[in-house]
Amino acid sequence: MPGLTIGDTIPNLELDTTQGRIKIHDYVGNGYVILFSHPGDFTPVCTTELGKMAAYADEFSKRGVKLLGLSCDDVQSHKEWIKDIEAYTPGCHVKYPIAADPTREIIQQLNMVDPDETESSKCAVPSRALHIIGPDKRIKLSFLYPASTGRNMDEVLRAVESLQQAAKHKVATPANWKPGEPVVIKPDVSSEEAKKLFPQGYKSVDLPSKKDYLRFTNV
Ligand code: BEZ
Repeated sequence: MPGLTIGDTIPNLELDTTQGRIKIHDYVGNGYVILFSHPGDFTPVCTTELGKMAAYADEFSKRGVKLLGLSCDDVQSHKEWIKDIEAYTPGCHVKYPIAADPTREIIQQLNMVDPDETESSKCAVPSRALHIIGPDKRIKLSFLYPASTGRNMDEVLRAVESLQQAAKHKVATPANWKPGEPVVIKPDVSSEEAKKLFPQGYKSVDLPSKKDYLRFTNV
């Protein structure tokens, strides 16, 4: 069976976390959730990542996004580890829950297993997987990094903004787009519809093919 991927509904698992039991769908509610896994507690890259997530938490919250970390060790270990995370990233407070998965069942169900790390240890180890879950409980976007590559939280925030623009308007965001920059009108929008949907106007790029498909607007 192929693993959980974009478009799939996230399983409504019940998780033990540093903030008590959480059912994933209840936690998502009507907003967005970033569910991100980590290979293990008291490991160097993970310690930097959880601190960075805490530092960006207000930016995510402003956009209606809640955070949910996951690392396989138990809740008591997570609570001890949080002291290190907060000490390493001064001024940050880990206010989001971190789920435990000592039996490794959850990472299997969420397609968050690192195959290489699994081979070298006896039990499954989480990859650096990150799912952005939408209000409909479906996975809108996934990042999948190996344990050795720490994630870039600016990129996570940028991806959230892109998803939210695309959900609100019939637009997509071009390469290296940053919030506030022009967006492109989706290819399935006819020029008649585009005039109605974007009364502020749009600019078509004159291409050698003369096909009118690269249309920029501001939303
Ligand atoms: C880390 O978080 O630093 C890490 C964990 C497992 C493998 C490699 C790096």
